[in-house]
Amino acid sequence: MSTEGKAKVVTTHVLYEMKLRGEKIAMLTGYDFSMARILDAAGIDIVLVGDSASNVMAGHESTLPITLDQMIYHAQAVVRATKRALVVVDLPFGTYQGDSKQALCSAIRIMKESGADAVKLEGGKEIIESVNRILSAGIPVMGHLGLTPQSIHKFGTYTVRARDEAEAEKLVADAHLLEEAGCFSIVLEKIPAALGEKVAHELKVPIIGIGAGSGVDGQVLVVHDMLGITHEFSPRFLRRYHNLYAEMLGAFQSYIRDVKSLSFPNEREQY
Ligand code: KIV
Repeated sequence: MSTEGKAKVVTTHVLYEMKLRGEKIAMLTGYDFSMARILDAAGIDIVLVGDSASNVMAGHESTLPITLDQMIYHAQAVVRATKRALVVVDLPFGTYQGDSKQALCSAIRIMKESGADAVKLEGGKEIIESVNRILSAGIPVMGHLGLTPQSIHKFGTYTVRARDEAEAEKLVADAHLLEEAGCFSIVLEKIPAALGEKVAHELKVPIIGIGAGSGVDGQVLVVHDMLGITHEFSPRFLRRYHNLYAEMLGAFQSYIRDVKSLSFPNEREQY
């Protein structure tokens, strides 16, 4: 319940029912009030306050630098705007790995200070203690396997994960472990479509894919990427619904031209 006393339309249980009846789940990232309000009005099921804010909002090269305070700031703005959708917030790098007590404190801060509905953590077996401790406090947890951007320095590249049998087997085992622990959903990022479908088929909880093919239970994209605000990033899984970079550039250029040529403001635009 994240908007003062009003129950959300989309809950973790609703997501589970959507999977049961074969209705796909639509999730997008959101980091600020204005964007989240439009996402919610459009009928998005889940708004993910992703640590990709580190890239698209703050201009960092990776998701590693963003802090817990910064994630809470973004989450507060999104929660204020969201009446219908479930709001999930990423626990940022360094706030949950290797110390389950710290993980619980981080998750509690997010839930208490932002009013979000759930948290998301990257990893499987290696973070299961943290997952268990957060779940034991009644905080819903979404998992994230496959390409996990917080581990980019371990992977070395952003290429497709789990192409080989050993990594694919570990991913399937981790997915089962997360489900058994009580995670309500799992994101699978940049893995072969057949593997995504296998996990979605074997698990009862909804599997949300980003570059995990069409056989999973839902899809997520970074909102700046699907709107074409970022234009230098073109992975195969990305469908661009707009070219806002070009449209915004044009609008800013028109404004600059109007100011400099004295055509703005005109008589009707002043007091
Ligand atoms: O931070 C993020 O945007 C994410 C999605 C890519 C799933 O974790």
